[in-house]
Amino acid sequence: MPGELKIRVNEQVRTVSAAPDTPLLYVLAGELELQGPRFGCGLAQCGSCSVLVNGVETRSCVTPVSDVQGKSITTLEGLPAWYAAQKKLRSAPPLHPVQQALIDEQAVQCGYCFNGMIIKASELLSKVPQPTEAQIRTAMNGHLCRCGTYPRVIKAIQRASRAMAGVA
Ligand code: FES
Ligand code: FES
Repeated sequence: MPGELKIRVNEQVRTVSAAPDTPLLYVLAGELELQGPRFGCGLAQCGSCSVLVNGVETRSCVTPVSDVQGKSITTLEGLPAWYAAQKKLRSAPPLHPVQQALIDEQAVQCGYCFNGMIIKASELLSKVPQPTEAQIRTAMNGHLCRCGTYPRVIKAIQRASRAMAGVA
């Protein structure tokens, strides 16, 4: 049965009307009309629906909305502010460094997978600021791109890592 739930999305408390087992993705994309997380497989297989929950990449298509009550959800829309808070910057940049690096490497083709790619890469760099190529490959392994952009995604993550370290 639908009921009122409060969830924290991009540092704002939002009241939504949903049954507790409603997938978080439906609430974010449907009720809150956020365009970052996308429906791909609906089976936790592709990563296009990913969001950060308390800083951890989470597949919103298989996460009941009741599971994230009391937690902090960050979608693509809130990622620059999330980064600014982590780095204790005075204000949020227009883009997270991963987003800028993907543009600089011209990695994006159709773009459908890139919500999840960006969310996962941002999580990785928050935990491992200077990952090896093997660590990047392992981290990104569960994100599917039908356009085959993987080599440029790896380069972009390496570029973002350098930018975040102030060496690029
Ligand atoms: S739509 Fe959630 S993992 Fe594919
Ligand atoms: S850029 Fe098209 S699916 Fe990845």
